[in-house]
Amino acid sequence: MKHITIGLFLLTAVAAQGAGGQDMVLDIDLSSRQAEVSPAMYGIFFEEINHAGDGGLYGEMLMNRSFEERVMPEGYHVENGALVPPVVDNYITGEPTTKSYRWGDDPFPGWEIIKRGNAAAEARTVTDNPNFATAPTSLRLTVKNPGKGVALVNKGYWGVALQKDARYRLRMYVRTADGGKDMTVRLTGASGEELGSVPVTLDTDGEWHEYKAVLQASDTTSDGRLSIELPGAGTYYFDYVSLFPEDTYKGRENGMRKDVALMLEELHPGFVRWPGGCVVEGITLNNRFDWKKTLGDPASRPGEYDTWGYRTTYGFGYKEFLDFCEDLGAKGMYVCNVGLACYGRSGEYCSDEEALYYIQDALDAIEYAIGDTDSRWGAVRAAEGHPEPYPLAYVEIGNENFGPIYDRRYNMFYKAIKEKYPDLTLISNYGLEGSEGADTIEMVDPHWYVEPKHFFNTTRLIDNYERGKHDIYVGEYSCNQNVGGGNMLAALSEAAFLTGIERNGDIVKMASYAPLIENRNDRAWPVNLIWVDNDQVVGRSSYYVQKMFAQNRPDYNLKVNADIKSADSAPLIGVDSYIGLGTWSTQTQFRNLKVTDANGNVIKADMNDDTQWVTPRGQWTRGDGVASQTGIENRTALIWTGGRATDGSVIEFEVKKTGGNEGFLCFFGLQSPDLKKGYMLNAGGWNNTASAIEGLEDDNSSPISLVVPDRLDSGRWCKARIVLRHGKAEYYLDNKLKVTYATEPMERKFYAAGYDEASGEVILKIVNATPEKCKARITFTNGDVEHTGRVIVLKADAATDENSFDEPLRISPQEHTYPGFSSKFDYNFEPNSLTVIRLTKK
Ligand code: AHR
Repeated sequence: MKHITIGLFLLTAVAAQGAGGQDMVLDIDLSSRQAEVSPAMYGIFFEEINHAGDGGLYGEMLMNRSFEERVMPEGYHVENGALVPPVVDNYITGEPTTKSYRWGDDPFPGWEIIKRGNAAAEARTVTDNPNFATAPTSLRLTVKNPGKGVALVNKGYWGVALQKDARYRLRMYVRTADGGKDMTVRLTGASGEELGSVPVTLDTDGEWHEYKAVLQASDTTSDGRLSIELPGAGTYYFDYVSLFPEDTYKGRENGMRKDVALMLEELHPGFVRWPGGCVVEGITLNNRFDWKKTLGDPASRPGEYDTWGYRTTYGFGYKEFLDFCEDLGAKGMYVCNVGLACYGRSGEYCSDEEALYYIQDALDAIEYAIGDTDSRWGAVRAAEGHPEPYPLAYVEIGNENFGPIYDRRYNMFYKAIKEKYPDLTLISNYGLEGSEGADTIEMVDPHWYVEPKHFFNTTRLIDNYERGKHDIYVGEYSCNQNVGGGNMLAALSEAAFLTGIERNGDIVKMASYAPLIENRNDRAWPVNLIWVDNDQVVGRSSYYVQKMFAQNRPDYNLKVNADIKSADSAPLIGVDSYIGLGTWSTQTQFRNLKVTDANGNVIKADMNDDTQWVTPRGQWTRGDGVASQTGIENRTALIWTGGRATDGSVIEFEVKKTGGNEGFLCFFGLQSPDLKKGYMLNAGGWNNTASAIEGLEDDNSSPISLVVPDRLDSGRWCKARIVLRHGKAEYYLDNKLKVTYATEPMERKFYAAGYDEASGEVILKIVNATPEKCKARITFTNGDVEHTGRVIVLKADAATDENSFDEPLRISPQEHTYPGFSSKFDYNFEPNSLTVIRLTKK
């Protein structure tokens, strides 16, 4: 066999060099008026994920305050320590998806019973004689022998953080018929040292009673406890034991943690999206986020086992969300369930007839927020103390739903909501291209979770996007792959992406980074904007990018002629490299694989020749000219060592799906016969809803092309063809072009220029994602600026630098004034930086 050297051919960057040797030359026309940037452009996406609400933004300090944590969603059971939902057919694949979820064996998480001396006591959760029918679980604690004392102790969300002299509101329900009367509730440190206490005199009539008190902390600790000292032998029932700081954001009783809320306030959000995210859909429909159950007294709210593996209290409910919007001066965006559970989990669905319930539920939610006070739900709002309508402006119909069933649901919901509320902006959850199955689309909601290269390469994605079709809300995006916990490179790639968003403000109306908050003790998602623990809030560098863009949003863009030197070059697809076939939780067959080079030479694979194949992963059988994947593993691979692709090659094979959730994979540009580096066509990925070309690095992949709506049918042979030519990869199925990816020299320097009418300032934003200074010459035409301007710089020594709990402000914006501006000036932008310059127009 011919030995072929494998290597990546790099496309040499053609550097556009500015006249004076600059890396960037910008000519900005001060009299121009380009795309407007919506006041709602930069918003926040809240979802109960990573303990973002409970243990994050929401002020409650005690975990499992209502003792409901171990309540399973209806129909679920525990198997081998994991929570298993009922088996249902998936609305995309038509087949059941079997997955299990996090569960624990602690009967009352968050709580412990301390027994001192020879004390004897036992506790269990019960549902008899409930205090609240809607949240019926309580804790029964029987003290048989008080010994030297028995205490019911809550450790909070990974510790109760107390501030010296701060005051905390205790609210709890206790019932006892035979217990003592004189109870003491203490704040303590981790080893039990008292940091404040309050006596509570119990009623012993066997009925539930509410007790409220304020405790003041005598010292500061991040690892405190709430300790309820039991007054002697007897049986005590506890329900809703809650502790809130008195000093919440805007002083609301059931309010938000002030330090976390202030971080969000600084993002000047134009809107708040609630409640998510996948929690909207649920694992199954039974555990979807149910807004009606979040109303009323927090003590009576049942909470729910959340899509992300823990129970939410529903404390940060629909009313709290709407109040929070008002407190922030933001518009509200409510996302409703359309009778479809998350397709990547169970994909449960109801019939179109049953979906009428969900339509009514969405209409009720809207009526609660903005309906007249004489309407049913408007009256509930008024009775809860808010007769004026809330600033709800957007409703999104579903979250990350796809396919023909979603098309039908979307049309049903759109019609029903629009008829009643014509002024609301209704958002579909479709990706960029929308769907031919939708009757009317006002706005789409593409989501991008990508690696840095993707954002650097796609800042011009929207520039040529068809106008007049629909508007765009980029509802979820972040650079969260190959960037550690979220480093400066991630932040700079997002800044680069946002320059493209801002420039296309005529069509991109809103954007929200996701996810928003992570409690450092429960990272369910790889990279999140803000990290919290019980007494600290850390903004990642990406947070500061958001803040700088939001606080420096112009009203409209200015016209810029730019000449930018490319710092980097991108690899050309079509190298002398290995080819592979694969699947993702799908059974698929392949045959007649061949590769044709640019000169027409053909090498055919022999499926029966063992020397031609290596199998990094999966259960493969080969015989009779067919290779079959029979397992359900993710990313299986069968690498062909008998042939190679080079620039100009065409890879062809036939493929037949025989079972499972998705379509097939084809690896190409592999530098070695493994999955370390190369490219991957993902055909019928995302549960058989879309196809894309992905970059592959160390067995991780993320899309580098557009993710195009697509599916692969089962049970028939289809002809696949991948054409690798001149830095371009094209994927055809049955001669139909499905996906294209073209490389180009990778830009690492970006700009946005706009004008703020209220302050009369020109706002420049420059991203320099290179390790060298970026020498720029900036010229203003048709107008002039004052010499002294404000400069705000976010920079890092290295692109891999990150903020941390120890160094939360290591990468944070620094502001200074600079006196050297004029109608033509040179400026050196720092390495690894985002710079905002605000200049008063003369
Ligand atoms: O932001 C995290 C998750 O990503 C959201 O819940 C979901 O919409 C998306 O898949």
